[in-house]
Amino acid sequence: MLRTVTCGELNKGFVGKTETLTGWVDTRRDHGNLIFVDLRDRWGTTQVVFNPQTDPKVHQLAESLRAEYVVRVKGKVQDRPAGTVNSRIPTGEIELLAGELEILNTCLPMPFELGEKNVNEELRLLYRFLDLRRKDMVESLTLRHRVTKLVHEYLDRHSFIEVETPYLTKSTPEGARDFLVPCRLNPGTFYALPQSPQLFKQLLMVSGYDRYYQFARCFRDEDLRKDRQPEHTQIDLEMSFITEEDIMGVVEGMVAHVFKHAKKIDVPLPLRRMSYQEAMEKYGCDKPDLRYGMPLHDLTPIFEGSGFKIFDETIANKGTIRGLCFTPPAGTEFSRKDFDDLTQWIRTYGAKGLAWFKVTGPETVESPLQKFFDAAPTGKMIRAAGAKPGDILFVVADRFKTAVISLGALRCFLAEKYKMIPEGKFELLWVVDFPLFEWNEEEKRCDACHHPFTSPKPEDVPLLASEPLKARARAYDLICNGTEMGGGSIRIHDRAVQSKIFELLNLTPEQAEAQFGFLLKALTYGAPPHGGLAIGLDRFITLLLQRDSIREVIAFPKTQKGTCLMTDAPSTVSEAQLRELSIAVKLAKK
Ligand code: AMO
Ligand code: AMP
Repeated sequence: MLRTVTCGELNKGFVGKTETLTGWVDTRRDHGNLIFVDLRDRWGTTQVVFNPQTDPKVHQLAESLRAEYVVRVKGKVQDRPAGTVNSRIPTGEIELLAGELEILNTCLPMPFELGEKNVNEELRLLYRFLDLRRKDMVESLTLRHRVTKLVHEYLDRHSFIEVETPYLTKSTPEGARDFLVPCRLNPGTFYALPQSPQLFKQLLMVSGYDRYYQFARCFRDEDLRKDRQPEHTQIDLEMSFITEEDIMGVVEGMVAHVFKHAKKIDVPLPLRRMSYQEAMEKYGCDKPDLRYGMPLHDLTPIFEGSGFKIFDETIANKGTIRGLCFTPPAGTEFSRKDFDDLTQWIRTYGAKGLAWFKVTGPETVESPLQKFFDAAPTGKMIRAAGAKPGDILFVVADRFKTAVISLGALRCFLAEKYKMIPEGKFELLWVVDFPLFEWNEEEKRCDACHHPFTSPKPEDVPLLASEPLKARARAYDLICNGTEMGGGSIRIHDRAVQSKIFELLNLTPEQAEAQFGFLLKALTYGAPPHGGLAIGLDRFITLLLQRDSIREVIAFPKTQKGTCLMTDAPSTVSEAQLRELSIAVKLAKK
C-alpha cells in the first residue's frame, strides 16, 4: 500500500507515531507560516499541517497544492493545540505534521465545489465521477453496500439461494415498454431486456428451487419520475408451498433486519395491514403515507337533500361526497385566492371543483356555499370530520375514484407544503386485497393490476366468468412513508386459470401461446403452488436515507429523459455496426 492508514483512522492513540496518508486535498488554508490541508478519502478527512520549520522544501511544495490534488504525505501524528479540536469528526483531536509530501496527481479547477449544496443536478451528473466524491454520495453508496450484505446474510440464513436469470430474454411484462436488443445471429429478431425476472423465477419454482432470490437489474422503458429509473435493482424472491402469510413474514423480517442493523431502528412486527379498499377510502391512494393523519371522510349521507345542486346531482348519479379536515399551522391565513388556486390545482386530478368551509364554531362555517346549508348538516359535517374552530374542511363531490384520489392528493400536498410530515419517522404497512384487474378505458379491456401471473382469491375465481373487475388478487404491496417499496403475489399455478386470465386481457390463444407458451407448458409439468415479491432496492435505500430522489443512491443514474450525461448514452451507432445487425434506421415521423 502507498499508505499506512486511511484518512478516517487516526486518533489520540496514534500520537507520536509516524504514518503515511494518501488522498485528495479537500481544502487548503494558509495561516501565516502554517499551511493546513484537510486530506480526504472515502473513510474520512485528516488535518495535515505543513510547517516551514519542520521542512522548508515540503512547505514550499505544499503551497502549490490545489483542491482535489492527489497526494501522499508522511509525518508525525500530534495532538491538535488546545481550542482547535474538532469534535464533529473522529480524527478531530489530532493532526499530521508533514515531513514528506509527494504530489501523485494534479486536478483542473473543479466545475463545482464538493462541499456546496444546491449544485445544479445536470452539472453533477455530467461530472458524476467528481460528484461521487461528495460525502452524501459516499454515505449512500456505503449504506447501499451494507444493506445488500444484510439482505444476503438474512436470506442465506432463511435457506434462500441466489440464482441469476438472463438479461437477454423474451419480453416479461410488468406494464412498461421493453428495451429491445437486436440479435446479430438471427437478423430481424430482438431480445427484450427483462422488466423483472418474474417468469424465470416462476420457472425455477417449477424446477424445484424453492426459496430463490436475486439482486436483479430490471429494465423498463417508461416515463421517468424521481422514484423511477429505466434500470433499477430489485431484491427479487420466490418461494413454493407457501401462502401470503409466509412471504409477508419473511419479507418483513428482512426489512426489520435491515432497519435494525443499518439504521439502529426497531421496526415493530408484524407490520399493520390495510385493505386496498380502506386505503382508497381513507387516504385516496393505494400507498398511504401514515406519518400524519388527515384521513378522508364520507360525507355523502350528511349532504343528502342539501339543496346544493352539484352535491344533489352527484348523489343522484351514484357519486360520493368526501371531505378532508385540515388544521392550518398557527398564523397561516387562507385567502380567497389561496382557495381558488387550490381549486385549479385539484382540477388536474379530475375533480370538477373544490368546496371549502372555514370552521368558525361547533355548528358554523364561513364558505361561499354557506347559504345552501342550514345549521344541521353543517354541524353534522363538522362532527363527522372531527373538525374544530379554525380548521378548514375541503369537500369534493364526484365519482368515488375521482373524489378520493383528488382529495388524497390534496392531503399529501397540504402535508408537504405546511411541513406536517415528521422527520426521521418510518411508517411501514402492507396493502392487501387488491383488485385483480383495472379497466383500461382507452383500449376497452381489463389490465392486470399487478401482473398477469397473479392468482385471484380462490373464492373469487367464479367472478372471472361473470364480473372479472370484482375479483380480488392474492397480491400485497409493502408501503413505507407513502412509497411503494415492494410488491408481490401468490401466482397462478393452474394452466386453465392462467389461460383464462390471458383471455380476459384480450390475448387470443395464439397470442398467449406465442408470448407465454413456455410458461403455459411449464404449468402442466408439476408446477407447485408458489409466490413471491420484489423490493425496489433503490427506493429502499432512498427511504432509509430520506433522500429526495433515487438518483441520490445510484452511482451512475440516468436523467429524467433517460440519458447519461457523463457518457452521452444513448447515442447513434456506426453504419458498420448497423450493417452487421442487418438494421437500417428510418426515423418515423411523430
Ligand atoms: P413491481 O413492478 O411492483 O413488481 O416492482 C417491484 C418494486 O420495484 C420497484 N420499482 C422501481 N424502482 C425504480 N424504478 C422503477 N422504474 C421501478 N419500477 C419498480 C418498486 C416496486 O415496488 N415481478 C414483480 C414482483 C413480484 O411479483 O414478485 C415486480 O417487478 O419499489
Ligand atoms: P360553481 O357553481 O361551479 O361556481 O361552483 C360553486 C362552488 O362549488 C365552487 O366553490 C366550486 O369549487 C364548488 N364545486 C363545484 N363542483 C364541485 C364538486 N364536484 N365538488 C365539490 N365542490 C364543487
